[in-house]
Amino acid sequence: MAVKRKPTGPVVGIKGVEIKIPKGKKVQVRRRKIVKAKKTALLESLPFWNLWVDTELAELQKKIAEVEAEAPMKREVKVKIPKGEKARVRREKVVKVEKPAVEGLEVPIKGEGLAAVERKAVKPPAKAGGIAARIARIRGIKVEKPEGEEARVRREKVVAEKPAVEGLEVDTELAQLQQKMAVEKPEALRRFEEQTTFMCPEGYQEQARYWITEPYTWVAILFNPEKNERMYYLVEPSLTPSEKNILEMLHEHLLDRLTYEEAAKDRDAILVNKVKELLKEYEMSIDEENVKKLIYYLKRSYIGYGRIDAFLKDHKIEDISCDGLGLPIFLYHQEYQNIRTNVVYDDPIELDLFVGRLVERAGKQISLGKPTVDATLPQGYRLQATIGKEVTTKGSTFTIRKYRERPFTPVDLIKYRTFSSDMLAFLWLAAENKRNIIIVGGTASGKTCTLNAIALFMPPDAKIVSIEDTRELSLYQENWVAAVTRPAYGGKAITMYDLLAQALRQRPEIIVVGEVRGPEALSLFQAMTTGHTSYSTMHAGSIQEMIYRLEGEPINVPHHMLAALDIVCIQLLTHFKEVRVRRNQTVLEIAGIDQETGALKTNRLFERDPVTDQFEMLGDSMVLTEIMRERGWSALRLKTELENRRKVLEYLVEKDISGIEEVSKIIRRYYFEPEKVMKQVGLK
Ligand SMILES: Nc1ncnc2c1ncn2[C@@H]1O[C@H](COP(=O)(O)OP(=O)(O)O)[C@@H](O)[C@H]1O
Ligand SMILES: [Mg+2]
Repeated sequence: MAVKRKPTGPVVGIKGVEIKIPKGKKVQVRRRKIVKAKKTALLESLPFWNLWVDTELAELQKKIAEVEAEAPMKREVKVKIPKGEKARVRREKVVKVEKPAVEGLEVPIKGEGLAAVERKAVKPPAKAGGIAARIARIRGIKVEKPEGEEARVRREKVVAEKPAVEGLEVDTELAQLQQKMAVEKPEALRRFEEQTTFMCPEGYQEQARYWITEPYTWVAILFNPEKNERMYYLVEPSLTPSEKNILEMLHEHLLDRLTYEEAAKDRDAILVNKVKELLKEYEMSIDEENVKKLIYYLKRSYIGYGRIDAFLKDHKIEDISCDGLGLPIFLYHQEYQNIRTNVVYDDPIELDLFVGRLVERAGKQISLGKPTVDATLPQGYRLQATIGKEVTTKGSTFTIRKYRERPFTPVDLIKYRTFSSDMLAFLWLAAENKRNIIIVGGTASGKTCTLNAIALFMPPDAKIVSIEDTRELSLYQENWVAAVTRPAYGGKAITMYDLLAQALRQRPEIIVVGEVRGPEALSLFQAMTTGHTSYSTMHAGSIQEMIYRLEGEPINVPHHMLAALDIVCIQLLTHFKEVRVRRNQTVLEIAGIDQETGALKTNRLFERDPVTDQFEMLGDSMVLTEIMRERGWSALRLKTELENRRKVLEYLVEKDISGIEEVSKIIRRYYFEPEKVMKQVGLK
């Protein structure tokens, strides 16, 4: 669970704290820290389970509450409102007691009392010279620590709010100060702990936080300097044990109430209605804010993805992996790369059920008889899952690779520096002239994305058939049949091999294969030798490995057939300056079979220098020479054709036009009316 809470149990476990909170007031005690008591109503109706305060602090708390009740307005400052704005000094904010003194301000807690210090801080002696001096004074307060505690006064204190809630009007100077502070600490930041309780775990420091679903879910990025380890700490609304009980009841009863047809309609609204209905039946009056928290959790499990829902919503997350029971879920984060989370599945039944549900949502089934599944979730995310301990010894696992909502285009590839514009101009000419291209590389090196981007260069009206295990490709061409394999649910499975056989009967000019790995590869090479064009990807780290896999079991492509390939792109997931990057390491041409040695002849055309991260063209291209002959071009014409394409691509990068639709339109237009495009991009 994201939020650390005092273990549930009888009230006796709490150190007999009794706190009165004045009506409508909020009090925050942070100490081991903890607690946020909201609205009185809640406090009265529910036992104070979630208060975990030690006595000393409780006393302090009491004192604050008393002072607050007696003299709430003591600190009033009389002033004009700046530019029609109202502002107020919020007093509850002024002081927070925390263990590590972050800004180093220590406050006397014994003797004088926190409230008094606070008062002094906000309303200094009359001779104080302006706000700056006041602030300086606040910062300068020197004090002794209470027994065993450290405390600090936090200065972000005075906060601008639009409607003056408590009617405190502040002078211009203060307002300016407020504005400045508001910039430093925007509204959103202050709200982080409104619905949640967050305690930074021992040994970690907070580096950043950001919202996922305001105001319920946010993430703290933590760092442990000792272990040199980052953590993605998910924080969700805190529930009191009684709220948890209610939630469980709701869970149980909702299951009966939500009928099948209803599930199809506006699920959000239905859920909210049913919850309200049920609460009425329970005769429970829970305040609106708390109902919202319950609904948050119910939506999370009925409509969302349960405990990992937030990871799917976080746009900075690329991959989610659960490596087994009792292990933290790991993420691949765009900024922090591989990072562990505070979410762990500890209960084997819960984990198995969850994996089962995930797979079901992807329209497939998983069982001990067939313990692994590859599937696509409704949003297009790729799911790989295993169940039980049959194949994965640490228990059920799952990996979700979040599919890009926007497919990659050549412009993205240049922007990410995966290819240079020269390389793509070359591939553009090659694809337009129907050369066979294969992208090889390791897992997640971006093969499919590259394939998708290069596919945009295919002649716009050619008949295309694509075959995949899971739907990943998204092309812009209209004359395109997209086929996906189907596992055998009792019936007969439809494999890549079957699909390819089907595809060939549809007389396609171009066949795109998501990934070749089995016997379909042989058919693909046969298709190439009979004049079809193919684009595909394959898992292999090098050209040698590719050949080895193609020629070996179970694929068995005859050696001479390999020469049907024209271009191999070798893609890498590597590091440059400590950052994980995806790069096309090599582009090479297949030059046929050496008559004497029988070896496959290759021509390395582009190569990336791993030190400088620059691409270099190594020599002349055989593919281009062939195209030149085929089309009856002069060498100069060929050069211009390449140059023009490079310029168009660079223009798109410069203008930041990278959407599949716009990019495809320009490529298509270039195919039919190159001069117009050159004019449009201002290059002729
Ligand atoms: N050129 C690239 N630059 C940055 N990220 C990329 C690039 N290509 C792919 N990605 C990201 O890498 C992940 C895996 O890409 P994918 O093409 O599915 O890999 P593969 O097919 O090699 O397994 C995706 O999340 C995608 O968004
Ligand atoms: Mg792939």
